[in-house]
Amino acid sequence: MESSRPRWFVEEWEILKDPPAIHDLWCKCVPERFRIDIAGLQRLLNRPGYSKHFVVHDPQTREVLGFCATYTGFINKTVSYVGCIAALLVQPSHRGRGIGTALHYHALRKLAEHRLSRLQLGSTFPRLLFGLPFEMESQDWFRRRGWRIDDSDVPGSGQEACDWVLDFADWRAAGLSDGGLTFRRCKLDEFDQVVEFVARESARKDNVGWYDQYCQLVGTPDIHDILIVLEGPHIVATALSYTLQSQGMEKMFLDAVRGGSEGFQAIGFQKWASYRHVWRDA
Ligand SMILES: CC(C)(COP(=O)(O)OP(=O)(O)OC[C@H]1O[C@@H](n2cnc3c(N)ncnc32)[C@H](O)[C@@H]1OP(=O)(O)O)[C@@H](O)C(=O)NCCC(=O)NCCS
Repeated sequence: MESSRPRWFVEEWEILKDPPAIHDLWCKCVPERFRIDIAGLQRLLNRPGYSKHFVVHDPQTREVLGFCATYTGFINKTVSYVGCIAALLVQPSHRGRGIGTALHYHALRKLAEHRLSRLQLGSTFPRLLFGLPFEMESQDWFRRRGWRIDDSDVPGSGQEACDWVLDFADWRAAGLSDGGLTFRRCKLDEFDQVVEFVARESARKDNVGWYDQYCQLVGTPDIHDILIVLEGPHIVATALSYTLQSQGMEKMFLDAVRGGSEGFQAIGFQKWASYRHVWRDA
């Protein structure tokens, strides 16, 4: 029986040829909120030195039937390398024929060529999807391929992380002072303090990629995109925000935050997406 199954040939993507088909596939496979334009997707995918992406083509027509994006990056300043399966997508018409399994196996084999300490589903930076989006329903498939995803407290076994969006029109300032906390943007001269806090917290909470992500902001005006939460003079939380100027309305986006749902809702944030945070030791 096994020998009658097609054997899929996994190839490295061709950066000049494959992007339009990969973009089509992305739009077919991900929920609407995650759709981006082709230029944006290409910018995220094209990270020489940090990315390797794979495709399965139809052997006759060369149509792209499946795609897997992988990245490698640093976890934090003390721990070494993480390898990410950032996205795995198969044409709906060709599922259940082994294409996903072939891509998953090939990606893991290629990632294993690096001296990784960890493997992750989803990616932090560059970020396509932070983890497995709750609504994508592929968790059983990954479970059957050795990823631990359950409701336990074991780090990396699928704990929820959420993106939040705040429309400033909904900002409930009263909520800010309730717990004696102040939420505000980071000032330039606070950046060192923030990086120190992030390094400490990443090590303590195993926050893969966060330290790296904050360090990329050194010397850029984007330091103001860091939101800090202060209790008195002490930083107790930080988050990266993206302010979007749309239809004359300013919004703030908080990226993959774990916990704190009640607090964020209390001050007017809406949940934008939820992911399962899944990783394992390499
Ligand atoms: C998850 C996803 C990538 C799986 O892709 P797929 O190509 O359907 O996966 P496979 O065909 O390898 O596996 C599906 C089933 O087909 C079976 N199968 C059929 N023919 C097969 C073959 N020739 N070889 C291996 N498995 C085969 C497998 O047994 C498998 O069942 P199992 O999970 O119980 O083992 C695909 O469903 C998808 O694109 N989903 C939407 C996007 C998504 O959620 N991606 C993940 C997060 S980014």
